[in-house]
Amino acid sequence: MENFAFYNPVKILFGKGQIANIAAEIPANAKILITYGGGSIKSNGVYEQVKAALTGRNFLEFGGIEANPHLETLMRAVELIRAEGIDFLLAVGGGSVVDGTKFIAAAVPFEGDPWDILAKQALVKSAVPFGAVLTLPATGSEMNTNSVVTKAATQEKLFFASPLVFPKFSVLDPETTYSLPLRQVSNGIVDAYTHVMEQYLTYPANAPLQDRMAESILQTLIEEGPKTLADLHDYQARANVMWCATMALNGLIGVGVPQDWSTHMIGHELTALHGIDHAQTLAIVLPNMLSVQRDRKRQKLLQYADRVWGLSDGTEDARIDQAIQKTREFFEAVGVRTKLSDYGVGLDVIPLITDRFKQRGFIALGEHQDVTPKVVEQVLTLCA
Ligand code: NZQ
Ligand code: ZN
Repeated sequence: MENFAFYNPVKILFGKGQIANIAAEIPANAKILITYGGGSIKSNGVYEQVKAALTGRNFLEFGGIEANPHLETLMRAVELIRAEGIDFLLAVGGGSVVDGTKFIAAAVPFEGDPWDILAKQALVKSAVPFGAVLTLPATGSEMNTNSVVTKAATQEKLFFASPLVFPKFSVLDPETTYSLPLRQVSNGIVDAYTHVMEQYLTYPANAPLQDRMAESILQTLIEEGPKTLADLHDYQARANVMWCATMALNGLIGVGVPQDWSTHMIGHELTALHGIDHAQTLAIVLPNMLSVQRDRKRQKLLQYADRVWGLSDGTEDARIDQAIQKTREFFEAVGVRTKLSDYGVGLDVIPLITDRFKQRGFIALGEHQDVTPKVVEQVLTLCA
C-alpha cells in the first residue's frame, strides 16, 4: 500500500426527514443563499422542506444552475453574493448544483478571473462555507472536494479540487430521489459504479481492504440498482444506492492505491462537445478502456471477474472477456446505452478529443501514465 493522508470532515445527515435538521448546522446569524437547478426541487416538495427548516432565517435564492453547470450562470451567483454580503450557501439538487456551488464558493473571494481555478488550476485560498441537500445519488460531490464546471462559450468542461470546498454538511434523504426521471436513476448507478472502477480496476497494490470495500460497493450496486428502477418508491433500495454513491467517491476506497480516471477524462470531452449525460459517456468508454488496457489491468480484471461476477472457469482471456461483457450488460440492463452511435455521435469526434488532450498536456493518463492520445483513439474507435 502507498502512503496516504486521509481527511474528510463532511457531516452526513442520512435518512428520511433529515432536511428538517439543517438549521442547526448553519450559523444562526448567517445570510444564506439557496442554490438550485432547473426547478425539480419546486415540484417534488424538497424546496418546501428546506424553506420550512429555515423559517426565521435570513435567506435568498439563486435558481437555474443547469446540468453540467455553466461558468456563465455560476458567475451571476458570484455577483449576487458579493453584492448582498451572503456568507453561507446551501446547495439543493444533484451533482451539478453541488459542483456549481463549490465553484461559486471558491470564486467569491478569488482575486482575478475565477475560470483560472479550473483552466490554470489556480490555488483556492478561501471559500464561502456551504452545506448540501442532495437529490440525485451519483457523483459523490456531497462528500468530496471535486467540482466540474463547463465554460459554455468554449465548450470546455474542466475540474478543480480543494479541501476548502468540502461541504460543511450534506443531507442524504432517499425520499428526495423518488421524483427522479428513470434516466437520472440509471445515470446515478452507472456513475457510482464507474467511480469505483476508476479506483479499483488498476493493478494490485497490497490493499485488500480497499479492494474488498470497492467490490462490496460494486456488488451492492448490482443488487440494489435494478430494484430502484423496478419500484420507484423502494425506500431501502434508494437508501442503499444513495449510500453506495457517496462511498464510491468520498476518498475512502481510493486511499493508498493507484487510480485511473482516464475514462472520466474522455467522458468529460464527450459531454462538452456533444452534451451526452456524464454517466452515458462513462458507459460508452469504460468497457472499451478495460478492453484496450486488458494486459496492464490483467490481474485486477481477473480478480474483478472472480469476486464481482463469480467467473472462475475458463482461460484467463475468456474470463476477462466475460467480465467486460458483464459490465457492459449491466450498464445496458440499468438503462444506459453503451455505444457512441446510440447517441448519434460519429467517430469524427476522435481527433477533436485527442487534439484537446494534446493541447492540455493530457498525454499520459491512467494508473501507468500510458494512456496516450493514441490509446484514447484506439478506445474511442471501439466505441462506435
Ligand atoms: O435542475 P433540476 O431541475 O434540479 O433537474 C435535475 C437535472 O435536470 C434533475 N434532478 C436532480 N434531482 C432530481 C431531479 N429531478 C427530479 N427529482 C430529483 N430529485 O436531474 C438532472 C441531472 O442533474 P445533475 O445534477 O446534472 O446530475 P448529476 O448528479 O449526475 O451530476 C452530474 C454532474 O456532476 C459532475 C458531472 O461531470 C456533471 O457535471 N461530476 C461531479 C463529480 C464530483 N463532484 O466529484 C464526479 C463525477 O464524476 C462527475 O464528473
Ligand atoms: Zn463520474
